Amino acid sequence: MSRLIIVTGGSRGLGLAITRALLEAGYSVATCSRSQGEALPAMMEACPDRLFWQEADIGNAASSQAFIDAAVRRFGAPWGLVNNAGIAREGILATLPLVEVDLLIQTNLSGAIQVARAVLRHMLSRPGGGRIINISSIIGQRGYTGLAAYAATKAGLDGLTRALAREVGRRQITVNSVAPGYLDTEMSGTLSGGQRDQIVRRTPLGRLGTADDVVPSILFLLGDGARFITGQTLTIDGGITC
Ligand SMILES: NC(=O)c1ccc[n+]([C@@H]2O[C@H](COP(=O)([O-])OP(=O)(O)OC[C@H]3O[C@@H](n4cnc5c(N)ncnc54)[C@H](OP(=O)(O)O)[C@@H]3O)[C@@H](O)[C@H]2O)c1
Repeated sequence: MSRLIIVTGGSRGLGLAITRALLEAGYSVATCSRSQGEALPAMMEACPDRLFWQEADIGNAASSQAFIDAAVRRFGAPWGLVNNAGIAREGILATLPLVEVDLLIQTNLSGAIQVARAVLRHMLSRPGGGRIINISSIIGQRGYTGLAAYAATKAGLDGLTRALAREVGRRQITVNSVAPGYLDTEMSGTLSGGQRDQIVRRTPLGRLGTADDVVPSILFLLGDGARFITGQTLTIDGGITC
C-alpha cells in the first residue's frame, strides 16, 4: 500500500505540480480545492486507485474536515500533509477591505492550522511518524508593498512550523516550511510587467521560479532521507533574499 499524502489546493499551480510528482513517485494523493480545475480529471482517470479529489474550502473548518475524513476513509491514515492552498490579495493595508483581510487569514492561516490539526489527529493515531510541510513565502520573511496581510499569514505559517515541530517531534513527525520566491503561476499573474522585470533583475539566477523548481525539495522533505530535519524553513527563490 503506497503512502498517502494530503495536498491542499492541488487543482493548479504549485499544488498540481506537487500532486503530479507525488503520483509519479508512487504515493497516493488526496487533494482538495474549491473547483476541480482542468488537469485533475485526466489524472484521476489515469490513476483511479491513487488519486482522490474532493471539493472543499479550507477556509471553512467543516468543509476541510469532511475532505480529510473522506481521504482517510479511502486510503487510511496519511503519511504526509502539504499545506499548499492559499490566496493572495494585493492592496495597501490602509485601504484593503477588512473582508479581504479576514479572507486571507481565514484561508492561508486558520485554514492551514485547522488542516494540520485534523491530519495530525490521524497521524498520531498510529505509530511510524509522518511529515507536514507548510508552503509559506519569502514575502513572510522580507515583506512586499501591498502584501502586508498576506505576509502576516505566511510568517504565521513559519511560526506554526517551528512550534509544531517541537510539539510532535517525539512522535517522529517532522514539520517544515518551504518558502518559494516569485513563481510563474496564476497567483503571480497580478504582477505588472515592471514588477516582473524588477524581480528578475534582483534575482541572482535571473528569472522567476516555476513550480518544478520547488517540487523536488518537497519530495525530499517527504522522504525518509529528511527524517532528522524539522522546524526549518527552506527558501527556494533563485537567491533573491540572499
Ligand atoms: N505563486 C507564487 O509566486 C508563490 C510564491 C510563494 C508562495 N506561494 C504559495 O504557494 C501556494 C500555491 O500557490 P500557487 O501559486 O500555486 O497558487 P494558485 O495557482 O492560485 O493555486 C492555488 C491553489 O489553491 C486552491 N485554493 C485556493 N483557495 C482555496 C480554498 N479556500 N480552499 C481550497 N483550495 C483553495 C486553488 O483552487 P481553487 O481556487 O479552485 O480553490 C488552487 O488549487 C500558496 O500557498 C501560495 O501562497 C506562491
